[in-house]
Amino acid sequence: MLVDGPPGGYRLVSSEDGVLIEAHDAEGEMNALQTLRQLLGPGAFRAAGDKPQVIPACEVVDHPRFAWRGVMLDVARHFLPKREVLRWVELLSAHKLNVLHLHLTDDQGWRFEVKAYPKLTEVGSWRDDSRFGDRRSAGMKGRPHGGFYTQDDLREIVAYAAARHVTVVPEIDIPGHSQAAIAAYPELGLHGGGVWSDWGINERVLNTEQSTADFYKVVFDELMDVFPAEVIGLGGDEAPGHDGELVRQIARHILRGGRRPYGWDEVLDSGPLPAGTVVASWRGVEGGITAAREGHDVVMCPEEFVYLDYRQSDSPDEPIPVGTVTTLEDVYAWEPVPAELTGDEPGRVLGAQANIWTEHLDSARRVDYAAFPRLAAFAEVVWSPAEKDPGFVQRLREHHLPRLDALGVEYRPLNGPHPWQRLPGVPGFPR
Ligand code: ACM
Repeated sequence: MLVDGPPGGYRLVSSEDGVLIEAHDAEGEMNALQTLRQLLGPGAFRAAGDKPQVIPACEVVDHPRFAWRGVMLDVARHFLPKREVLRWVELLSAHKLNVLHLHLTDDQGWRFEVKAYPKLTEVGSWRDDSRFGDRRSAGMKGRPHGGFYTQDDLREIVAYAAARHVTVVPEIDIPGHSQAAIAAYPELGLHGGGVWSDWGINERVLNTEQSTADFYKVVFDELMDVFPAEVIGLGGDEAPGHDGELVRQIARHILRGGRRPYGWDEVLDSGPLPAGTVVASWRGVEGGITAAREGHDVVMCPEEFVYLDYRQSDSPDEPIPVGTVTTLEDVYAWEPVPAELTGDEPGRVLGAQANIWTEHLDSARRVDYAAFPRLAAFAEVVWSPAEKDPGFVQRLREHHLPRLDALGVEYRPLNGPHPWQRLPGVPGFPR
């Protein structure tokens, strides 16, 4: 039954007469069902075999603080098989997160089947080797890595996510992070070269030929055909020396397709952005502040707080420790709306997303370790009012970790990694 209230909101009443759910909308109904699952106890998070449970008598009236409660999965640096992406949709839904941003292309791999340009996946979806650890000190793995999603795979993921009120936002990264595309079609670049087996910022960006822009318009047409999301990612980050014209052309192309372009905050440096562009603020909060003041919608994801590939403690036991220390408590303490925003500017903040880059996360098990339990803290930040609950860690320990156990999530224990979660001898680069 639909009731008045904020989007995604619901009311759940449990009594001896049964359970009543009223929701503002279909997403609210899904949120209420996830709350009911929480009330049922950790066994309700198992795939089967749970014993019948007693639901406590209660009334819950709730709604999300932000409309965009996202996770970015980098499936380019290390491919996550389709079955793992489907599992991630479940994990998002269980945490009342509603946007899955898929980073589908990078220097190290192209994961999106493009019918017009088959070499993007024939050549671009695999590399013959990978750096194992930080590039400044580590050796190579000595084996190939690859994989890609067919358009049918992605349509399946989109439909599976839609049934759980998760929107899949795809990203094709231009004009940097494009070495896999250049390996497949050298005429897109200036210097040629194969799919990159190293990590870091790559100088070999797309060239500025009109033929390259035209090539990418076809790619984005296929992308928009597969992904019905209102927002379509074009990357735009870390493109040394590029002038931004390609970003503007593709942004306008996405708008002509009836969608909204979504770029990392470097797109603010590429000249005036078309109205409707959404900006992801990752190099701190300044990009988000500038974008909001220029009238753009913003998704906050500053690396200092929500880059979940960054190390979870300063212990040498952390596997391949990179980035700054970002503890569970740091994520929970984070406030997504920058204090500098005034007037109607805070309303430009659609929400936030946690970013999970996978240079050093080469399997679904490693992704679990990096993401959890910090993603549970993030989920509360984007759902709940700004006031923090001093009992958060206690609640996590008592109530939520048992749910993650039941789901089979291989999270980082609060006191540090299990022995089998360490990677002794593989160098990171702690900052
Ligand atoms: C990014 O971290 N390069 C968006």
